[in-house]
Amino acid sequence: MYNKEQSNLLQKTTERLLLHIKDSRYETNHLEALRDSLRFHEYRYYILNDPLISDYEYDQLYKALEKIETDNPSLITTDSPTQRVAKGLTKDFPAVQHLVPMLSLENSYNADDLTDWDRKARELTGFSEIEYCVEPKFDGASISLIYENDLLSRGATRGDGVQGDEITTNIKQIRSVPLSAKFSEFGIQQIEIRGEVLMTKKNFKKYNDSLAEQNLPPLANPRNAAAGTLRIKDPREVSRRNLEAFLYHVSYYTKVDSSQMTDDRKPKIKQSSVNSHLSTHSGSLEMLWQLGFRSPNKEKKVFKGINDVIKYCHAFEEERDNLPYEVDGMVIKVNDIALQDKMGMTSHHPRWAIAFKFKARQATSKLRTVEYQVGRTGAVTPVAKIDPVPIGGVTVSSISLHNADFIEEKDIRIGDTVLVERAGDVIPYIVKSLPDVRAGHEKKIHFPQRCPVCGYTLEKPEGEAVWRCNNSLKCEAQVVERIIHFTSKDAMDIRGLGDAIVRKFYELGILKDVPGIYQLPYEKIKGLEGFGEKSMNNMLQAIEHSKQQPLYRLIYALGIRYIGETTAKTLANAAEHLLDFKKYSLEQLQNLEDVGPKVAGSIYEFFSNKENIQMLEKLESLGLQLKNNKKEMAVDGNLSGQTFLFTGTLAKLKRSEAEAIAEKKGGKILGGVSSKLNYLVVGEDAGSKLEKAKKINTVKIISEDEFLKMTGE
Ligand code: IVH
Repeated sequence: MYNKEQSNLLQKTTERLLLHIKDSRYETNHLEALRDSLRFHEYRYYILNDPLISDYEYDQLYKALEKIETDNPSLITTDSPTQRVAKGLTKDFPAVQHLVPMLSLENSYNADDLTDWDRKARELTGFSEIEYCVEPKFDGASISLIYENDLLSRGATRGDGVQGDEITTNIKQIRSVPLSAKFSEFGIQQIEIRGEVLMTKKNFKKYNDSLAEQNLPPLANPRNAAAGTLRIKDPREVSRRNLEAFLYHVSYYTKVDSSQMTDDRKPKIKQSSVNSHLSTHSGSLEMLWQLGFRSPNKEKKVFKGINDVIKYCHAFEEERDNLPYEVDGMVIKVNDIALQDKMGMTSHHPRWAIAFKFKARQATSKLRTVEYQVGRTGAVTPVAKIDPVPIGGVTVSSISLHNADFIEEKDIRIGDTVLVERAGDVIPYIVKSLPDVRAGHEKKIHFPQRCPVCGYTLEKPEGEAVWRCNNSLKCEAQVVERIIHFTSKDAMDIRGLGDAIVRKFYELGILKDVPGIYQLPYEKIKGLEGFGEKSMNNMLQAIEHSKQQPLYRLIYALGIRYIGETTAKTLANAAEHLLDFKKYSLEQLQNLEDVGPKVAGSIYEFFSNKENIQMLEKLESLGLQLKNNKKEMAVDGNLSGQTFLFTGTLAKLKRSEAEAIAEKKGGKILGGVSSKLNYLVVGEDAGSKLEKAKKINTVKIISEDEFLKMTGE
């Protein structure tokens, strides 16, 4: 897409633009340079995974372009990098006709199937050997894109293959799909391309974790997650989910009619390049790659004859788990387009292509019983115990059924044969039960009314799907799970005190609650099997070290419902001391960044509970850090989640420089004084902002020097 010379030039332009932006010296005539520079860096980031500038610098360029366009709306173009962002909700997704029907593929499962298919292809064409292009079969949701006069004009789902849903706005949220591409340089005026939208395994896990946090059942696999996301009516949510797209097929194109053009409008490329690129499938992948699309250009291989094709399919299957996204097979395509046309298609699939399916990640098994697990917040989760079955190299015997609604909706019964999928490589999931093979003795699953651990009556709040044991302080399961969460990696990170050891210590009565971690009877532990001097010392050191963990980690470690890492940071930055929250009203809590009524209610409830306060006091007396230690922040310069406002004349920095430093370190600049503000940085002659801030006791008023110390600059 960009050769070395162009890349160097664009990088130099970027550096120059950043300098202009730093001095607020950018203007309308920088518009195209900003756009080119942003497109180049999007390509480096989203297509090559090899960025040349920081996110911060990218944001600076983006904001500068946005500012010029806001000041000069008439200069906005549909393919400007700012134009992906959509405001408001999509009303509906109108049905649209594909230019060429989106057919499916014939499947093959082993080498014999492929050899047979190759033999038929040779018979059909009369060739003794055929050239094939082999590429991954992406496991996502298929899409069709139309570009006209170099601009993305339409994006659609597959639908029934003839008609799909128009989802252009959502497609624009996928950053690896170019809003414009120079097809004209290949002599193309209109083109329809097909591809697959994917969610990476990492993003899928993140998405399912967020569903779990809201007590919602996870999605079965990244394919469902991608397909579901494409149909969301809020484009900003689509953007947040970071979808990716691979484009792998040119289904239709028209040529630029150059006879109608004046000389200076003639495409800058020789007409022959259309033919040279679009006469083979591998050439079309090369063209798409050159135009800035993510096509499987690097992954594709061209072979003469089927034997090497089979070898490549097997070799790729071995690598399947090392890829960041799901691939469910390979696609083998006749490389010569003229030969493809000659071979034609059935009503269902082209005769010139076939899918080679990898070993299934699904299996059936019998559901024998259901056990119920109680989590640290009291949520009771049903877990299906199935006859152990190997799926993708792992034996699966235990699968979460999430909640009572999930069981009801899928009509899952004890004794049922169930279809199990190991999605995203790790999480096994019950796709469905198979009622057709029921023998008649299967039993409905009755959710227990009492906590399976402490016997307390379970409750299910209106509108929620989860049954809960509210005996939180006494229910043993919850106590143990809370200790486990407290010591976990993202919380206090106490290595050597993992799940199994916490359970063992609890059973032995030597660890009863969270403060107990800091009062372990080492003499007793020394005598236990498996506790040598070395492991004891490591554990001791990790426990000691945890006392100095930053406040946000402690807050997260407490396992307060709905408090993830981000909210924990907000809370840590809002208070001088953790116990200050005893004094916060519900309203004050809701004034904090990203804290809604549900979260505020949960924090309020936690700090209204006497036993929780006693526990925190005990932790402090045992040496844990409950103060908001600003010095600590200064060391790593991390201001993430904190809000700043500068007022008055600063002595050392320009206002814009100070703001840039705060943003670079993860802070956010607010427009005015409110209870959402964490720090007001005050220079000479500060006026009304300072007066207003003094009246809000949660705003910390600091000097320029204190600010610089915090940032570590
Ligand atoms: S070619 C006429 N290539 O697999 C051309 N399809 O099971 C047909 N798919 O509907 C498509 N990766 O959504 C092709 N590299 C690839 C693919 C691919 C995934 C999907 C596509 C198709 C489905 C058939």
